[in-house]
Amino acid sequence: MNKKIFSQLLAYSQNDLTKISQPYIMETFGVEVERCESLEQYAEKIDDACLHKYFSKYWQNDMKKWKYSGVALIDEVNSLKPRAVLDVGCGYNEFKGKIDNLIGIDPYNDRADLQVSTLDYKTDQKFDVIMCLGSVNFGNREKIIAEVGRCVALLEDGGTMFFRVNPGVQHDKPEADWIEFFAWNVPFIIELADMFNLAVLDIRDDTNQRKYFVLRKKLAKLEK
Ligand SMILES: C[S@@+](CC[C@H](N)C(=O)[O-])C[C@H]1O[C@@H](n2cnc3c(N)ncnc32)[C@H](O)[C@@H]1O
Repeated sequence: MNKKIFSQLLAYSQNDLTKISQPYIMETFGVEVERCESLEQYAEKIDDACLHKYFSKYWQNDMKKWKYSGVALIDEVNSLKPRAVLDVGCGYNEFKGKIDNLIGIDPYNDRADLQVSTLDYKTDQKFDVIMCLGSVNFGNREKIIAEVGRCVALLEDGGTMFFRVNPGVQHDKPEADWIEFFAWNVPFIIELADMFNLAVLDIRDDTNQRKYFVLRKKLAKLEK
């Protein structure tokens, strides 16, 4: 759950749900949501609406600015000769047609091949490569762990995951004010690798304080 939004709702309403009106939500968070049965549910819906608004209307990308996690990935990924690549939170789907056999998913950007979130994406397909570039970044630790776990489940044994993550830097635009940016750090990357039996192939500082890292799913027979 987005703690910033929940704390604001709690402080304002003092846990009295009748105080949470549509005008209050619009005035405070700049979004509309349907009526909810609890403050937690309001926080979830408002969080989703804020992410939707920001990433469908305001956020702009410049793939060229990233030292490691932008256009440099085209040759890097294609050199692995992948049979299937998943771009999680693909934004404007800029790798489409440049990286072989790629599917881009994103719940908020209509250029995605499928408009769906990481946790709601259901498929029997497995991927040799999964890219999570700036997209497993929103919400609390449990949400991040669940999203990484979902990606690991979609990855072939021996498959590779490329990440760009944010150490918790807020985006400049006011429309991003209510978004909760998870504060990634190197110990957490290593903890995740241990948790999901992944080898850490690389960790580097990318542009704008972002971290770039590469994980590989260990082969089942090597697991013990
Ligand atoms: C900072 S942008 C990065 C976009 C693209 N990967 C890139 O590198 O340009 C973050 C993207 O993650 C998407 N996103 C947010 N929450 C998501 C979720 N739960 N599942 C998948 N994508 C999500 C947003 O819609 C947005 O397009």
